[in-house]
Amino acid sequence: MRQPLVVGNWKMQGSLVSVEALLSDLVSATPAAGVEVAVCPTFIHLGHAFTVCGHSFVALGAQDCSHAKSGAHTGEVSAAMLAEVGCRWVILGHSERRQHQDESDALIAAKLVAAVEAGLRPIVCVGETRQQRDAGTAQAVVSAQLAGALQGQANLGQLVVAYEPVWAIGTGLTATPEQAQQMHAFMRVCLAKITGVDATATRILYGGSVKPDNAANLFVQPDIDGALVGGAALVAADFLAIINAAAA
Ligand code: 13P
Repeated sequence: MRQPLVVGNWKMQGSLVSVEALLSDLVSATPAAGVEVAVCPTFIHLGHAFTVCGHSFVALGAQDCSHAKSGAHTGEVSAAMLAEVGCRWVILGHSERRQHQDESDALIAAKLVAAVEAGLRPIVCVGETRQQRDAGTAQAVVSAQLAGALQGQANLGQLVVAYEPVWAIGTGLTATPEQAQQMHAFMRVCLAKITGVDATATRILYGGSVKPDNAANLFVQPDIDGALVGGAALVAADFLAIINAAAA
């Protein structure tokens, strides 16, 4: 039985004031029980965020981490530093980083090792572009991304994977529940093949324009174990509605 997980990726949004307000609204709510919840503000807001949500049902995550433990890596933040300020989760390989920071599968694999070593729980993102879907290569792209990032990982229990079709991110175009379910089921088979470990317990999140009005239909699919939410995670009522949909 996989516990549903709903994670808010706040991307490069907010200020100290708005982060505090949003988190205060979340932690003062009482969502349905049984769903694990995390939010991922920017690095700079993490410390302050922890003072607001530190001991609540909302866990903290980061949006990235360095592959290195320490040293001459100007501008980078290590996984251990994130753990020290209260992070339990880290998003790795988001398509915006693959696209704009040229992150390769090999780099994401190195970050994954660093995150696990520091005790963070990684959420590894994969997903195809519109062009790749139209060309019929979506499954090949996703399985190559999984293989590239996860080679050698044997601890799938701690790992979360997110399927985020690039064409659905921030566009209002959600994958249909059937499209998402088909890919999630395929990914579960891939995960087992790549790692040689049973992936029945591995949570696979869907991300890409998840909103209160489409969440329930996604969550009833047997291989969709929660969501990685962008825009709707910035509105407390919407994020809470998505959490409640995951509990139902
Ligand atoms: P949206 O929910 O805004 O489409 O963003 C999804 C996402 O990129 C989460 O990581």
